[in-house]
Amino acid sequence: MKKVLTLSALVATSFLLSRCATTGPVAKSDASPKEMVAEAKKNYTAAQMEQGKTIWQSHCQKCHKLYTPESHSVTTWNNVLPRMTKRAHLDDNEAGMVRAYLIANATDMG
Ligand code: HEC
Repeated sequence: MKKVLTLSALVATSFLLSRCATTGPVAKSDASPKEMVAEAKKNYTAAQMEQGKTIWQSHCQKCHKLYTPESHSVTTWNNVLPRMTKRAHLDDNEAGMVRAYLIANATDMG
């Protein structure tokens, strides 16, 4: 019984940890697309978004074409970006600026 409890505690912990790891520092998975966009616009200046755009242009077309902000919905960006910014070896700050740029300019509010 004790073993089972320890095991489920471990499973729960790793589930929580992996949730954090995939959601990233700025993403809030329970926020609506509208809230995510509002938060990005509140937390990032125009200059930071511009920097995000520059990083996106230089890092996000190494493996595939450059997907424009309009190419995916806010929700899809939010889900895809943690994986992609990791692939592009961006640090948290860079990843945050790229995310802010992309979701603030996404036209599909889904
Ligand atoms: C090291 C290679 C690599 C880099 C760098 C990379 N990607 Fe990707 N990307 C992939 C691969 C492989 C897929 C397809 C498999 C998947 O979705 O994981 C993909 C899929 C995607 C998709 C989904 C396309 C679709 O509609 O099916 C988007 C959007 C995307 N990448 C955006 C980005 C952005 C933005 C960046 C920069 C932060 C980036 N990628 C950097 C390899 C990369």
